[in-house]
Amino acid sequence: MSAIEDFTYDPFSPEMMRDPAPSYRVLRDRFPVYYSERYDTFYLSRFADVWDFLSRSDGTFSTCDSTTLVDPQLMRHHNQGTPPPPPLDPFNHLVHDVSPGGADGGDGDQTLYEEVRQAHGRPMRPKHVNSLESFIRGVARERLDALLARGEFDLTQEYGGIVSASTMCHILHVPLERAPDVLAAINGATRTDSPEPGLDLTGVFETCADFIEPVVTRRRQTGWDGSWPAIDGMLDYRMRGRELTDREVAINLFCLLVGGTETLPKIVAHGLLELWRHPDQLAAVRVDLPRNCGIAINEMFRYCGPAQWFSRTALVDTELAGQAVKAGQRVTYLLQSAARDEREYPDADAFIWDRPIDRQLAFGLGQHYCIGVHLAKLEGRILLEEFLSRVSEYECFPERSLRRPSSFQIGFNTLPVAIKEHS
Ligand code: HEM
Repeated sequence: MSAIEDFTYDPFSPEMMRDPAPSYRVLRDRFPVYYSERYDTFYLSRFADVWDFLSRSDGTFSTCDSTTLVDPQLMRHHNQGTPPPPPLDPFNHLVHDVSPGGADGGDGDQTLYEEVRQAHGRPMRPKHVNSLESFIRGVARERLDALLARGEFDLTQEYGGIVSASTMCHILHVPLERAPDVLAAINGATRTDSPEPGLDLTGVFETCADFIEPVVTRRRQTGWDGSWPAIDGMLDYRMRGRELTDREVAINLFCLLVGGTETLPKIVAHGLLELWRHPDQLAAVRVDLPRNCGIAINEMFRYCGPAQWFSRTALVDTELAGQAVKAGQRVTYLLQSAARDEREYPDADAFIWDRPIDRQLAFGLGQHYCIGVHLAKLEGRILLEEFLSRVSEYECFPERSLRRPSSFQIGFNTLPVAIKEHS
């Protein structure tokens, strides 16, 4: 039997967690809609198929029986038909896009999901995000003052990590001195050096809510006026007529804290590594930093994205790229495979800082499109610009980096950098 005939794809296998890229290529070329019997899941690996799948807005596919990140244990549980909706009490919406059930049962209605997204989404809109520029720049400069004096440091956690965690603390009114604790708690979530690979979201879920809940309690006691948009929006929100408890508000804001802290630092560190690896590209970016950092960050979102996949579940019998899908079966879209699809991006495995990007899936698409996209673009541009404007020569040490094997986030958990020349 040839290697291809032998081919099986399992996102939780040790080889895949170390380096899924070779299997992504086989999937794209030979099995673009791959069915895994073990997980009763279809895997989409081509850019166009993922794009079409996420463009469907008819409610056929949902995040109802899990979050968008399905752990291996849940994956091994096969649904028999449409899964039951998540509970209504307590109301831990997270990213569930159909009405939770409970006494009144779930009904496939997506109103609650949209309502909650609206209620806490105001600080993520462009106008509010733009008002954060001087805060983010200030924290980045402060960090660089301290780090450059040391000469060598960890680009992921000590630079981008602290800036991202501080920004999310600022948005959620968590005291800024807690940023290192927030960062450490969130990094714990993608630890997969345990016998059971995948994600351990339970701990981080509770820990992150612990950071936010006291803020909500204080705000409720002292009164709110809309000027803390994420918190106040959730205090104003009524879920089918009832207000949320402090814990429920905190749990519903947990995704913002994690989404805003976890991914961007790894992308910026990896992006600076690619520029260091390609001195000609670094020189070209330096010609006009404010303009070019805004362009280069888009290629970094495509090329350096650590999040591998997200999942949905079919609510009804349907069809996917010509294959029958039954209610309860899952579809997982392989984001990093789509990002390296030659059918969409010529020379897709090459980093090209100013490559034309007409379509981008780095932030997903459709109903669950990343709520933090504007913040990520602004913060990414600032982190690059501040670093490159202070540092005229640097050296990265990828051989000493830590890339924890993970089925979900495969990125530079740490990346040592030595500063050779700076102002
Ligand atoms: C920096 C600030 C960020 C924040 C606050 C943030 C927050 C979030 C939240 C709350 C969601 C869930 C939306 C929902 O399901 O309704 C989400 C989705 C998503 N985010 Fe972000 N995120 C940020 C940055 C990023 C970055 C840098 C990337 C990668 C380039 C990214 C990629 C995604 C993707 C792909 C989804 C969609 C997941 C799906 O389809 O299930 N995010 N983000």
